[in-house]
Amino acid sequence: MIDPLSVALGPVILDSPLVGASGTLGSIVEFRRTVDMSRYGAVTAKSVAPEPWPGRVPPRMATTDAGMLNGIGIQNPGIDVWIEEVSEPFRDMVVPVWGSVVAHDPAGFGEVAAKMPAAGVSGIEINLSCPNLDGRPFALDADVTGDVVDAVRSATDLPIGAKLSGDAMPISAVAYAAMSAGADWLVIANTLMGAAIDVRTRRPALSGLIGGYSGTGIRPIIVRCVLEVARDLPDVPIVACGGVSHSDHVIEYILAGADAVAIGTAHFQRPRIADKILKGVARYLKDNDIESIRSLKGAYEPW
Ligand SMILES: Cc1cc2nc3c(=O)[nH]c(=O)nc-3n(C[C@H](O)[C@H](O)[C@H](O)COP(=O)(O)O)c2cc1C
Repeated sequence: MIDPLSVALGPVILDSPLVGASGTLGSIVEFRRTVDMSRYGAVTAKSVAPEPWPGRVPPRMATTDAGMLNGIGIQNPGIDVWIEEVSEPFRDMVVPVWGSVVAHDPAGFGEVAAKMPAAGVSGIEINLSCPNLDGRPFALDADVTGDVVDAVRSATDLPIGAKLSGDAMPISAVAYAAMSAGADWLVIANTLMGAAIDVRTRRPALSGLIGGYSGTGIRPIIVRCVLEVARDLPDVPIVACGGVSHSDHVIEYILAGADAVAIGTAHFQRPRIADKILKGVARYLKDNDIESIRSLKGAYEPW
């Protein structure tokens, strides 16, 4: 019998439909000291590049009416130091840890992916969609997305998820390119590109002017993205990500066509939020006599 809360992402089975979103769990190592990690099916580490990246100068985070802006610029120590100094506890965690790779070109993505197994990760997310880097996110272009996924696929046998951008239009074309190049699942999506200006100081909220918008406000946009990809590529495994802070949001994404759902910005307000969300999902299944969450995939009722 299948556990009601277990989900499949292609070859990968997760015990819980909840995933910890990259960049919102600190280094994971501190996070696990206060949070019951067994609530997640997998947790995703902060993206890591071939060499150290300093990130952007402050200000690089700001609140908005609904959600937040960040322009961290993927500050990270580079893959070699990361393996040595950050990843060691990953092997003993109760939950699978996915690495997240980022780089400026396909060869760089491949280089990081090739080194990832030394960190003890059980899967790799490809960050094709960070809006805080100079230039366009890779995931706005289907051909470039295919090249990056191809480079990672050639570099590792680990299962890989391609993290797309809700700014891509049409997103299904990019999704198709990622899957054709060998991704095992899609993560839909990263932050959207956003900006804000303080009218009193006339200063932009972020030093880099444009950054990533996340949290409550992006959920309807990401639900639309999941609906489009699930309609155009019905069998593709999807991790939905954007504005989740309640169990209803998880069910909503799964009805739209997702298999699993990632929590990001909500962790900053409530680090232990996954516990409450998972209990709410379990209650929904019980109250509605649903044996497995998998049966809800794409099961919204059209008008
Ligand atoms: C402060 C911050 C840092 C992030 N860092 C990363 C990162 O390193 N790599 C990545 O793929 N996504 C990163 N993200 C994006 C999140 O993983 C997630 O895709 C996005 O915030 C949307 O989900 P949410 O609305 O639940 O936050 C970051 C988001 C925030 C808010």
